[in-house]
Formats: sequence, structure tokens, C-alpha cells
Amino acid sequence: MLVNFNEMLMKAKQGKYAVPHLNINDLEWTKYILEKCNELDVPVILGVSEGAAKYMGGFNAITGMVKGLLKDLNITIPVCLHVDHGSSKETCIKAIDAGFTSVMIDASRHELEENIKITKEVVEYAHERGVSVEAEVGHIGGTEDNITSSATNATLEDCITLYENTGIDSLAPALGSVHGFYKGEPNLDFETMKIINENLPIPLVLHGGTGIPEEKIKKAISCGISKININTDLQSVWSKAVRKFLEENKEVYDPRKIIGSGESAIKTRIEEIVTLFGTKR
Ligand code: 13P
Repeated sequence: MLVNFNEMLMKAKQGKYAVPHLNINDLEWTKYILEKCNELDVPVILGVSEGAAKYMGGFNAITGMVKGLLKDLNITIPVCLHVDHGSSKETCIKAIDAGFTSVMIDASRHELEENIKITKEVVEYAHERGVSVEAEVGHIGGTEDNITSSATNATLEDCITLYENTGIDSLAPALGSVHGFYKGEPNLDFETMKIINENLPIPLVLHGGTGIPEEKIKKAISCGISKININTDLQSVWSKAVRKFLEENKEVYDPRKIIGSGESAIKTRIEEIVTLFGTKR
């Protein structure tokens, strides 16, 4: 069932667990994620970056693919199809018109006033169509979609101002996590995370889930994080498995065998992630 994230994330916020946001890159990844989450009977958010959308052909192609997989694989869990870091109102509108059930408008590179203006316009368009909206305050740095940027942490005041002026459904406050692998130990501001959670009625999102030690993931969930984004982690376990397979099977040329050699690594990692997050249906 393709849904927005509202119900699954409000349940997670109340139940003190997190729903995984797993980025997709192609048909195979989408299939592995859906099959594994369905087997575990947990909701999932399929994250699609602008780069991944372009790679897969566009938002319409992705919606068609996901809807087809839900039907053909008899997927019964709630699945949210979400734009990850939509950089403009136009991108979000394109995805919504193509059938995405959720968008992140990331106007965090702008000053707060402009961030609010753009986010509010997206919320108006999305809410009229039953689509949920995530926004970002401060700026989450690191490398994503091959773009590297530096981080600025969010403040409670800015989070409240953005929420009150836009009506967003979830918020990703930048609090020390970064996209891609960490250089050294991640330094998350749990104190501010907790205070933001106590002051906002909407679920909070943690980006840059790859490489955060388990204890810190658990602490983030206890401080109010309800959605955790993972991308690099699955890319890393998949590519390691495929590289090993190719080294050991130099004569294989069937792309289904090559791409598929990463299936069990992805599925094993998803089970570990879901267990760590305590995800429930
Ligand atoms: P990682 O690639 O660090 O897991 O971050 C993913 C993310 O936050 C997607 O928005």
C-alpha cells in the first residue's frame, strides 16, 4: 500500500522507535527492500534523491516501478515513496504529480525566511493532494549524490519558527550528523534534539544514518527521532558483496547474476537496521 508517512511516523514517535528511510537506486534495490520489509512486516520509506531519480529515468518511471512491484510481489506493508532532498518547489511538484506520496523540500541552503517561503509553498501544494512534507533546518553536511557541503547546526528557535510558519509534517534538524562516511566519531547534539522534540508535535528525522554507532542511534531514538535515513550503508554492503562475487566469478557476464550477487548482503543489513531501530508495524 502506497501511503504518505504521517501515520507510520506518528506511531513511531508515540512508540519510541524509528522507521527506516532507505534510499533506492534501481529496480533490484527497490525489490530487495520491499521483499525484506514485507517479510519483517514493518513499514518502510523509499527515499529517492534527485540524482537517483534522474538515473532511473524520472519520477514517473519510479512510481510505475514501485506500484508494479507492490502488486506483483503482493506487498502488504505500508510503503511511502518519498523525494529525498528535493532542492526546489518545481522538483517536489513534479514528483507529486507523478504519484510520490511524500517529499522533502530541502531549502536549507537559503536563509530561514526564504527556507520558510519555499517550504510553505510546497506544503500547500502537497497537502491539497494528501502528500506529506519534510523540511530541513540548519544544514546537514557531508557528501550526498556526489555533492559535498559543510554543516550548520539547527537551533530550537529556527525549528519552531519554520514549523509554525509552514505546517510541515516532519522536520530534519541538522544536529551534527553528516551524509556519507564519518571522519572520526559522529558528534550529535542530543540535548538540542530532545528539546526540539519536546517543543514540536511532529516527528523528527535523522539524516546521515550510515556509520552512527548503535548506542548513538538508540539515544537519538530516545531523544525523539522517528525516521532515520540510510543510503551509503546499503551501497557499501552491496558493492563489497558484488566486488567479491566478480573476483570469484570472472567468467560471469549476466547482469542479473552480477547485480543480484548483492541481494543477500542488502537484505541481511536491512534486518539488522530494523532490529536496531525497533521498527514496528
Ligand atoms: P547516509 O548516506 O549517510 O546514510 O545518509 C543518507 C541520508 O541522510 C539520505 O537523506
